[in-house]
Amino acid sequence: MMQPQIIELPKFTDPRGNLSFVEQLNHIPFEIKRTYWIYDVPGGESRGGHAFRKNEEFIVALSGAFDVIVDDGTEKKKYTLNRSYYGLYVPAGLWREIENFSTNSLALEFGSEHYIKEDYIRDYEQFKTLKSNGEI
Ligand code: TYD
Repeated sequence: MMQPQIIELPKFTDPRGNLSFVEQLNHIPFEIKRTYWIYDVPGGESRGGHAFRKNEEFIVALSGAFDVIVDDGTEKKKYTLNRSYYGLYVPAGLWREIENFSTNSLALEFGSEHYIKEDYIRDYEQFKTLKSNGEI
């Protein structure tokens, strides 16, 4: 099973302003089918308590900071994203929440799948059951 992983992105530092970029099948280990962003989040708010059956994600804190909590059903790990040149790869089949958004933070998320409602597991007990049965 793939593990979540912090990936350092290219960074061109420049007195005129820095530049970073990502490429699919390179820094992001999947083909990108979807990109979305979460913004105007009140400071301290949490979002995204769910797992995906198939969708893999790559999350970047373009601005501000937040914590991504990734839970494999047994163990929880916290990844703090607070620089725009780091991304967090989150494989499918893990419960993840995003917490502790700083005011004016901006979370950019790339997904390996189109938005499919049925791909979401939103019930934690169901997630634990599917996980322990090896169904996800
Ligand atoms: P959701 O993924 O539930 O956000 P969070 O887990 O952070 O609370 O998405 C919120 C709403 O946006 C939900 O009603 C579905 C809709 N949505 C789309 O229609 N397309 C998308 O690509 C995403 C990510 C969400």
